[in-house]
Amino acid sequence: MNRFTGRTVLVTGAGSGLGRAIALAFAAEGASVVAAGRTAASLNETVGLIEAADGTAAAVTADVTDSSRLQSLVRGSVDRFGGLDIAVNNAGILRGTGPVGEVSEEDWDAVLRTNVTGVWLAMKHEIAHMRENGGGAIVNISSNLGAHLRIPNLAAYITSKAAVSALTRAAALDHIHQGIRINAVSPGAADGPMSLRPGETDADRAERVKTENPLGRVAEAGEVAAAVLYLASPAAGAVVGTDLVIDSGSSA
Ligand SMILES: NC(=O)c1ccc[n+]([C@@H]2O[C@H](COP(=O)([O-])OP(=O)(O)OC[C@H]3O[C@@H](n4cnc5c(N)ncnc54)[C@H](OP(=O)(O)O)[C@@H]3O)[C@@H](O)[C@H]2O)c1
Repeated sequence: MNRFTGRTVLVTGAGSGLGRAIALAFAAEGASVVAAGRTAASLNETVGLIEAADGTAAAVTADVTDSSRLQSLVRGSVDRFGGLDIAVNNAGILRGTGPVGEVSEEDWDAVLRTNVTGVWLAMKHEIAHMRENGGGAIVNISSNLGAHLRIPNLAAYITSKAAVSALTRAAALDHIHQGIRINAVSPGAADGPMSLRPGETDADRAERVKTENPLGRVAEAGEVAAAVLYLASPAAGAVVGTDLVIDSGSSA
């Protein structure tokens, strides 16, 4: 399929994990991809993988907690590729593990600032362009932890992702009349470093999740990417403010 030929897609956190898989999937379907994050080396690797597969991409360093960098990121994407049609706000961190009473103020602030304010700021600048240019589609990467499921010792992350899920629905209502469709994907444990426990290998995780979720395995990064591409595609033209959970049945 070539659903995104002629489209420009911005992906934050595109230097690793799910963000990289999402960037590669869009590029494989014809999109020009702007891969954003804080680390040039990992973003360049993503771009290298896309170009090796005859795709088109550019790496841009930007911290999602920095509003002026995000504004330049959107402007730069438009200058480079002629527009911005789709944005995937995927950058996120998991810190501040442990009981609520023991979470440090520094970890709490960092998680909320990156995961919630970072998504809001990114949307703010993406929407500013899209509403003046015929609309677009935004997909925020939330988590099954938050609005859909709670487990002990992850309160900062859970609170941040519950906010991303709510923010997505609120933003969808505010901007659909401008032709901007906003939705979320909420993965559960997915193939990537974030779902590994300290010291755990991929094989250890595979063994652990056999009994931990109904499906008995984590989601592949490509399975999460497929959901993002669907929500960004014309086939999802009437899908507004949904939060698609992909968590192997954990929150079913
Ligand atoms: N993997 C899972 O099991 C899972 C499950 C549910 C939800 N999620 C969500 O999926 C998203 C991607 O997670 P992942 O598993 O792929 O983790 P990951 O490999 O750690 O990717 C996170 C990306 O975000 C970037 N990032 C972090 N802080 C940033 C900032 N301030 N500004 C710009 N970029 C920043 C990181 O790059 P730099 O450090 O280079 O900036 C990194 O490339 C996250 O929002 C996460 O919460 C993941």
